[in-house]
Amino acid sequence: MQICSSKNILCCLITCSLILNLLLLVNVSLRSRSWENSWTRDAMEEAEAVASIHCSGNGRAFLDGVISADHGRPVCECNACYGGSDCTQLLPDCQVDADSGDPTFLEPFWVKNAGSSAVVISGWHRMSYEFSDGSLISEELKKHIETVHAITGNAITQGKHIIFGPGATFLLHAAVHSLSHQHSASASLSNVVASIPYYPVYKEQTEFFKAEDYKFSGDSAKWKEDNDYLKTSSNIIELVTSPNNPDGRLRKAVLEGPSVKKVHDLAYYWPHFTPIPEPADEDLMIFTLSKLTGHAGSRFGWAIVKDEAVYRKMLTYIELTAFGVSRETQLRVLKLLKVLLHNGNGKEMSEFGHNIMRSRWMKLSQTMSQSTRFSIQQLEPQYCSFFHQLRTPYPAFAWVKCEREEDRDCYQVLKNLNITGRAGSLFGTENRYVRLSLVKSQHDFDLLLRQLNKIVSEERDDVTVMPSISSAVRENT
Ligand SMILES: Cc1ncc(COP(=O)(O)O)c(C=O)c1O
Repeated sequence: MQICSSKNILCCLITCSLILNLLLLVNVSLRSRSWENSWTRDAMEEAEAVASIHCSGNGRAFLDGVISADHGRPVCECNACYGGSDCTQLLPDCQVDADSGDPTFLEPFWVKNAGSSAVVISGWHRMSYEFSDGSLISEELKKHIETVHAITGNAITQGKHIIFGPGATFLLHAAVHSLSHQHSASASLSNVVASIPYYPVYKEQTEFFKAEDYKFSGDSAKWKEDNDYLKTSSNIIELVTSPNNPDGRLRKAVLEGPSVKKVHDLAYYWPHFTPIPEPADEDLMIFTLSKLTGHAGSRFGWAIVKDEAVYRKMLTYIELTAFGVSRETQLRVLKLLKVLLHNGNGKEMSEFGHNIMRSRWMKLSQTMSQSTRFSIQQLEPQYCSFFHQLRTPYPAFAWVKCEREEDRDCYQVLKNLNITGRAGSLFGTENRYVRLSLVKSQHDFDLLLRQLNKIVSEERDDVTVMPSISSAVRENT
């Protein structure tokens, strides 16, 4: 056996001491790093705990929900037609609600991307009124919005200004207000027009604000037909919705001329709803996160504006009414758009949304094809430059027509059959039409389809008495 020399022993001791110090250093640095990160731990645990609350697949609990007196945690918020503390009770005589365009159909995409789309907001996150450059908008978010349009090919942003607002609803009014202040002081009040069937908010909003500068003046197509706009000395603001709400048609402005200003509401101009034939290149275009990613609750929209003076007016409007969009919202939107872009350059979410809408439309069309009492709009396929193929539009709404002579009030006809839609008269047209929302959750769509199937099969059997939806669901579950 070889005995160590004193030189070797010294060498061993130095090496051991070095290794020990190194281990200590690594340990200290790991501990200090875990201390640094620990402020997110509580938030993370809180979020995970709420996400794990069991609502039987018929509801969901949220962090800011009402706290249950029983267990001290947020209560389950149940899907339509379900109740009870864990959403297991099917409610009797429940009406199917197909009224609002609440776009929760994309929720499964965000559940699938739960990790990458989550964002932690610190207590000190951007407390100031302004960003450090004095603006009210995140430059990074603006860049991401431009990239989303560039890869989708649905709007040209180059050489234009971008404004953020708390939703398209807000921006629509900002646009109408700004355009009506564009005209010379001598000009009389501006006429706000839209082609029938139009999105009801245009009329409701314009009339609600009772402004001295503008009024709602009805159907643009009628103005065109009568050539009224060529005769009037006043200005016209035409609101153009493409694809249109309620019927999903791609539309162009119908009025032309120096007195006509246009606002293009392109809320649904995304590949999950419609083929994108070409990028829109209009003077004033409005988009909303609600219909792009489904986050209607975040209240975020943007306007793309060509004219510098109009842009400045809209900016002033936003500064004096809301002083911009909440920084928390901007942070969240940035995160969502990053997820969208990082997943196949927007392809994954668009395909996901498109597949849901296609499946819903196939089922709905199959049901409606068996009815002579009700019909729905027919839309032609078009080339989509985003998917590089011919694509059928799958709009957010079914525009249902009651075909029987006596069914003049289609809304009431469906209401009596346990389905609540939105009456045609609100869209400026006959009540023979009713709009049914197809963008709500899968649960909502399933209830709607079940009830429609029941109505159509009873139409075929010529049975007039309808059971409530709860008994229809019970039979099928
Ligand atoms: C055509 C159209 N424009 C604007 C909006 C409003 O969008 P936001 O949720 O951003 O206010 C909607 C909402 O349904 C819509 O259908």
